[in-house]
Amino acid sequence: MTATRVCALSELEQDAATRVEVDGVAIAVVLDSAGEVHAIGDVCTHGDISLADGFVEGETLECWAHGSAFSLRTGKPLNLPAYEPVPVYAVLIDGDDVLIDPTVKKEI
Ligand code: FES
Repeated sequence: MTATRVCALSELEQDAATRVEVDGVAIAVVLDSAGEVHAIGDVCTHGDISLADGFVEGETLECWAHGSAFSLRTGKPLNLPAYEPVPVYAVLIDGDDVLIDPTVKKEI
């Protein structure tokens, strides 16, 4: 599979998450305060909650339901109650296009 355009870079709000779906895979796309774009699995591993509805804090995305914060770089939860990681995906930036291939996990 090839990478799919999911949104425009200029549409992303800094320190906020945007939920996108690629081939049925829900992904939270985050533009952090350093200007880096991250893509992590959108479903919290503690419950069926969209992480894109949570809060971006530095390099973490915090689930609004019970407060587990997931690393945007590794997908690992940094605190309980979640203990399983979410997947992280490689992001390609082509001009103003943000592209993700959900079959390609990011190298950690
Ligand atoms: S559903 Fe996300 S921490 Fe509980």
